[in-house]
Amino acid sequence: MSQNRVAIFDTTLRDGEQSPGCSMNLEEKVRMAAKLQELGVDIIEAGFPIASEGDFAAVKEVAAQCRQVTVAALCRTAEQDVARAAEALNGAAHPRIHTFVATSDIHLEHKLKKTRSEVLAMTRAAVAQARNYAEEVEFSAEDSTRSDVEYLVEVLNTAVDAGASILNIPDTVGYTTPTEMAHLVQVVNDRVVRDRDVVISVHCHNDLGLAVANSLAAIDAGARQVECTINGIGERAGNASLEEIVMALHVRADRLPFANGIVTTELFPASQLLTEIVGFDVQPNKAIVGRNAFAHEAGIHQHGVINNPLCYEIMTPESVGVPTNSLVLGKHSGRHALSLRYHELGYRITAAELDEAYSSFTSLADRKKRVYDQDLISLLGASARNRAEKSIVGAAA
Ligand code: KIV
Ligand code: ZN
Repeated sequence: MSQNRVAIFDTTLRDGEQSPGCSMNLEEKVRMAAKLQELGVDIIEAGFPIASEGDFAAVKEVAAQCRQVTVAALCRTAEQDVARAAEALNGAAHPRIHTFVATSDIHLEHKLKKTRSEVLAMTRAAVAQARNYAEEVEFSAEDSTRSDVEYLVEVLNTAVDAGASILNIPDTVGYTTPTEMAHLVQVVNDRVVRDRDVVISVHCHNDLGLAVANSLAAIDAGARQVECTINGIGERAGNASLEEIVMALHVRADRLPFANGIVTTELFPASQLLTEIVGFDVQPNKAIVGRNAFAHEAGIHQHGVINNPLCYEIMTPESVGVPTNSLVLGKHSGRHALSLRYHELGYRITAAELDEAYSSFTSLADRKKRVYDQDLISLLGASARNRAEKSIVGAAA
């Protein structure tokens, strides 16, 4: 892989799917996986096969159908977990076993009830076992960002010595900051990767709203794989949002000159498909894919956007696959937006008619949250309406 290419590892079907309200059945997972392949992700993590029969079947089916991407299956370091992941991936064009164990003292003591040396032995055994089944083995040190760094380095070196070629550093509880994340990636690069052919990956959760910022800082510091989800779905506050990472790399290529394989015009369609499958929308102001991400309501903004979208848009809606820019008409809208909307609706009105319509429009907008096209038409005086209706009919004839 080129030094400046970042692999996009999508975990919508695993970490995303395991969050409340996001579970998907087999048919839905397969439909979503096909969309992810079309979108151009490098790796689809399709499930956690030991967790349920459904997850096992989903990994198997996604592996059978998605032949152009790597399909990953998650497993703990237990022998039966690794074997089950391998079985689900049997038949994949590009299989990857992704095994993980926690490395922070808090997880060792209170969750795993294991000593540090036991976890080292579990890492070694699981990675070696996974390598018997798959060329490509990824190892994740869960809760890396709260782990003792000396111990983390030791575990990661053990994983590489046993055959792992992708090392994932998860910020499992969304605790770290961009500078800390960048520093940790540099430490792993200097003390684990060295001159070996190993990719550093990051997997950031969004508990402090920093998942995307932390992922970008990690890329800047040398990570060449990011784990993320469509719409940022995932445990608790979610995972890093795929569309936000990708568009930050795209729009700010001057500061972040890293290539990836995403077809950006498929971002909105992928987001819409996920929304339809899980049955809930993203928040309206969600970056890139939210309903308002490209909507301009304040009059001064609308005027600017009409003259030149670059006034307030750093990327076009079309570049992420949003059908068109939508000017929402509400009480902050200006005369220019109103005039443009009339024009789009086929009404060629005079300046005096616009003045009159604008004054009725502002008082209506004070009472109504949104003013719809039908309202605008009824605000026009009869003569303007008749004239336009005739010319619309005439144009259609
Ligand atoms: O958040 C996390 O630590 C995970 C790992 C299993 C990669 O999801
Ligand atoms: Zn996670």
